[in-house]
Amino acid sequence: MEYVDGLQLRRATPSDAEAIALLHADSWRRHYRGAYSDAFLDGDAVSDRLVVWADRLREPDLLRYTLVVEDDASLIGFAHTLFDEDPSWGALLDNLHVDHGHTRCGIGSQLLASTASAVHSRRTGLYLWVQEQNVAAQRFYEAGSGTCVGRALISPPGGVANRLNGTPHKLRYAWNPQQLTRLGAEHRGD
Ligand SMILES: CC(C)(COP(=O)(O)OP(=O)(O)OC[C@H]1O[C@@H](n2cnc3c(N)ncnc32)[C@H](O)[C@@H]1OP(=O)(O)O)[C@@H](O)C(=O)NCCC(=O)NCCS
Repeated sequence: MEYVDGLQLRRATPSDAEAIALLHADSWRRHYRGAYSDAFLDGDAVSDRLVVWADRLREPDLLRYTLVVEDDASLIGFAHTLFDEDPSWGALLDNLHVDHGHTRCGIGSQLLASTASAVHSRRTGLYLWVQEQNVAAQRFYEAGSGTCVGRALISPPGGVANRLNGTPHKLRYAWNPQQLTRLGAEHRGD
């Protein structure tokens, strides 16, 4: 557990599932509209996330690394990473979201640096997918020295095709182990 500027950064527990799910669905509604259908975002998105997060956090899993950030009042950010997900690219940063009232305060950078530090210790790279329409997040990853290395079709949430609008694309951003050393050093204060 760590305290940074009055915020608490720690590993998630099963009791965080609901707060993470609500933040996740709210962030999708604000930032994924256009790629994800309005019917899904305004309908099943919350229940979908509640089920997914309850399942993800139910049992400890050594291959999953979920961080949360809290202030005095609530959970305001999270990052979820799957170690050793891809033999070439390494760990997958599957989700990174900061509450909309707390962006541009360095919370995303703290979550990314802490994730980088954990992945670095496993001696792999790190990658993620960001929606092509999500230019703000792409600027964030570039500010964190990530490199765009590919493009692919977005898979619909839960595998349900009509949760997507058309055929939206996503971009792969990646960090090699050397880049993670530098990014993680910010977190460790080296
Ligand atoms: C993307 C996100 C995680 C970034 O977290 P954050 O806490 O706001 O980012 P930080 O404050 O750590 O930003 C670090 C740097 O990234 C860049 N950056 C961050 N947001 C940016 C934006 N909207 N536009 C341009 N650059 C941005 C800046 O260089 C920033 O430094 P500065 O504020 O000193 O200029 C957050 O905005 C978010 O949750 N967005 C909605 C969900 C989302 O898109 N998640 C990513 C899914 S792949």
